[in-house]
Amino acid sequence: MVASTSPGSSGEREGWSSRTAFILAAIGSAVGLGNLVRFPAEAGANGGGAFVLFYILCIVLIGLPVLLSETLIGRHGQAAAPESYRKMALESGASKQWEFVASLGVLSAFLVLSFYCVLGGWVLYYVGTFAADLVSSGVTGPAFAGSSFEQVEALFPAMISNGPVTVALNIGFLLITLYFVSRGVSGGIEKVAVYLMPIFFILLVAITVYGAFGGAMGETVSYLFTFEPAKLSADVMLAAIGQAFFSLSLGVAGMVTYGAYVSRETNLAKTSGIIVAADTSVALIAGLCIFPIVFAAGLAPNGGLGLMFQTLPHAFQDIPGGALIGLAFFVMVAFAALTSSVALMEVPSAWVIDRFKVSRLVATLLVTAGALVLGALSALSMGALSGWHPLGFIPLFEGQGMLDTLDTLTGKLTLPIGALLTSIFVGWIAEKRLIDSENGLEGGLHRLWLFLVRWLCPIALAAILIFGIFG
Ligand code: PHE
Repeated sequence: MVASTSPGSSGEREGWSSRTAFILAAIGSAVGLGNLVRFPAEAGANGGGAFVLFYILCIVLIGLPVLLSETLIGRHGQAAAPESYRKMALESGASKQWEFVASLGVLSAFLVLSFYCVLGGWVLYYVGTFAADLVSSGVTGPAFAGSSFEQVEALFPAMISNGPVTVALNIGFLLITLYFVSRGVSGGIEKVAVYLMPIFFILLVAITVYGAFGGAMGETVSYLFTFEPAKLSADVMLAAIGQAFFSLSLGVAGMVTYGAYVSRETNLAKTSGIIVAADTSVALIAGLCIFPIVFAAGLAPNGGLGLMFQTLPHAFQDIPGGALIGLAFFVMVAFAALTSSVALMEVPSAWVIDRFKVSRLVATLLVTAGALVLGALSALSMGALSGWHPLGFIPLFEGQGMLDTLDTLTGKLTLPIGALLTSIFVGWIAEKRLIDSENGLEGGLHRLWLFLVRWLCPIALAAILIFGIFG
């Protein structure tokens, strides 16, 4: 059993207080704005069914085996991600340079953290807006009574282009994240997940069921689940695989980091299955929650990030009690985002603690400061800096501001590359004995997993990356 220590104590390594705590924290890391904002936006931008079904295929055949690979490297290493890769490499007689894979992951996690907290800030804005509205509309009233459809829709572009507001919200969200991460694994990170994730599930399902009666559910189901092979181009595939990794928190050494706090008794194959099932169902439920409203209102499904922020509030305008339900919904989104940003901050923080031997507080403060600077550039990229396209000279990043650039850079490049290297590492480099003792699989399932990690993951990932980028 990994000892669970109180925040701030040193020497003994920190750990989850139970298997359930690990599962909830890992699900908390996986479930977030990736499921609620990015998944519907990507599904809409990539034509619906073809994307969604290919995404599910990626989750099962690539995401799940890579998730098990990452957690087992972490649990074996019992250290920050680069140290865990190095340990497994050295014990397998391979070069310690494999720790590079984790270093790339740590960098990716930091980049994602920087723009993730900008989006988290937007969520806080909606929490505040709905809270203020609740005061004027009352508990039983619909949201934004007296405001037109257009007025509610206009809130979003007005907010994201307002520099001081988005930067302030970004700082707010980062500080909340800092608070929990600085308190440590069992003292802080775990507490957020154990209390908030169950509330999140109940609310999401309730709002979806409620919406199913009024929205265009039939149209949504055929949009999301009709497979049209002609639409499955290389860039749709790259988008789907990138979304699969982003959503499962893979390729950023996040699950390696969380895996390092897992006790020896936990069966990693089983927990990986639970995490994948939970994450995928939340993404699909989010789609079934948002698109019926989009179609019922006659809007286009390719509304991007606006889908959740602009479209959903309409639903709350139409229903009695909408002010209260809307507030509950955005509070829930903020919770989900927080359990993910906590994971994102933990990855570089654990690295800083191990590498520079500083306290958790110092490490988290350093990471926060860095994320704040980079985040401000993303926060301003929808307003004052909207004309600045940092990597615009590369076709993949054409016309993208800082936020979109970082999203593409991580989602379409560094996450899939990190996962590709991890599958090669576990499939070919690491000694079989080490892996067999960690993965919790037997017989046919074990052989299947090994086949996926050795052959399917590297080949499919390399092909999708090459065709998606150059095709
Ligand atoms: N998986 C999270 C989400 O879907 C984002 C995330 C990525 C969190 C990588 C941790 C690591 O919102």
